[in-house]
Amino acid sequence: MVELLDKKFTSFITKEEIDKEISNLAESINNNYAGKEVVFIAVLNGAFIFAADLYRKITVSSSISFIKVQSYEGMQSTGSVHEVIGLTTDIASKHVLIVEDIVDTGITIEKVKTLLNLQKPASVEVCSLLFKPEAFEGKEIPKFIGFSIPKRFVVGYGLDYNEKGRNLDEIYQLKEQNCSQNTMLNIVLFGPPGAGKGTQSERLIEKYGLKHLSTGDIFRYNMSNDTELGKLAKSYIDKGQLVPDEVTIQMLKDQVLQNQEAKGFIFDGFPRTNAQAEALDQLLKELSTEISVMLALEVEENELKNRLKKRAEVSGRADDADPKVIANRIQVYKNETEPVKAFYQKQNKFIGIDGIGTIDEISMRLNEAIASI
Ligand code: IMP
Ligand code: MG
Repeated sequence: MVELLDKKFTSFITKEEIDKEISNLAESINNNYAGKEVVFIAVLNGAFIFAADLYRKITVSSSISFIKVQSYEGMQSTGSVHEVIGLTTDIASKHVLIVEDIVDTGITIEKVKTLLNLQKPASVEVCSLLFKPEAFEGKEIPKFIGFSIPKRFVVGYGLDYNEKGRNLDEIYQLKEQNCSQNTMLNIVLFGPPGAGKGTQSERLIEKYGLKHLSTGDIFRYNMSNDTELGKLAKSYIDKGQLVPDEVTIQMLKDQVLQNQEAKGFIFDGFPRTNAQAEALDQLLKELSTEISVMLALEVEENELKNRLKKRAEVSGRADDADPKVIANRIQVYKNETEPVKAFYQKQNKFIGIDGIGTIDEISMRLNEAIASI
């Protein structure tokens, strides 16, 4: 990834792919103009690198010249094109090949062609490294095209974003941060101990490409790796105090930022209070996304107790075996979820899921709930 001014760009076309395509283009051009004299006219500034690489592979009899026009400001084509450096070469009766880095709407290239045609050349064709078919409004598509690309803003290999990035040796595309993040699926998953949260979250992660964020795991990670936040959290824990929400949120934020490619997040064991839920909303808003839904697996108390007892028999987990411990954990869960549930209910984002049934049945209910949002 590269950053230019206020924007981030991700890899799109590698140097190797560009080199290979330029060889193909040169071959087509050499074949097409065999036995003829060609005047290459490269359009400045963007085409200077492409023209230099292409021209060194040209074997037909030729010369090269430059013209400079301008049509873009920032990331929008302005529609009006003006000539900044005019053509000084005589092209009357010559075969002209215009060399462009990119043809977007096609306005620039039409204007350049019109200018050149005034001198009555024998022919005028266009060779463009990149072409955006969806943006193109011109009459004639370029005869020689390197890559047809989606309607996306690209930089590098001569192409710029406000004059930056021309020196990158690959082509990068604008990272559409807001777009992808608005479509993120961010789930707050709740369920009492024994509700099958672990099993179901694994399935959700796989099905929807989500990143699992459990505050327990994140605490352990930060503390065992001795990160600044881990040390901070430990200083509270050592004093027997609760880790403040700001610290927890900061750790979550780090994890969210490190996993921006995820299709969404499952928040597990968080938020546990209204204050945390508000802080989480704020954090996601800063990242141009939001919580999509709170899913709560609902299992009635006696059933939970039975399940935990069975789980204890299999796993030998002492905390599952003691009925008093079980009752207490269920009570803590209830106390914690109720206010958070109300928080998401107010936003119309709470869905309760019947947690009784087979793993597949519950999984299906969760998928239906997600489809309904
Ligand atoms: P058109 O007139 O809309 O075809 O735009 C052509 C000119 O706009 C090109 O020569 C570039 O200078 C610029 N341009 C179009 N698309 C891009 C892009 O994705 N990145 C950088 N410059 C672009
Ligand atoms: Mg250009």
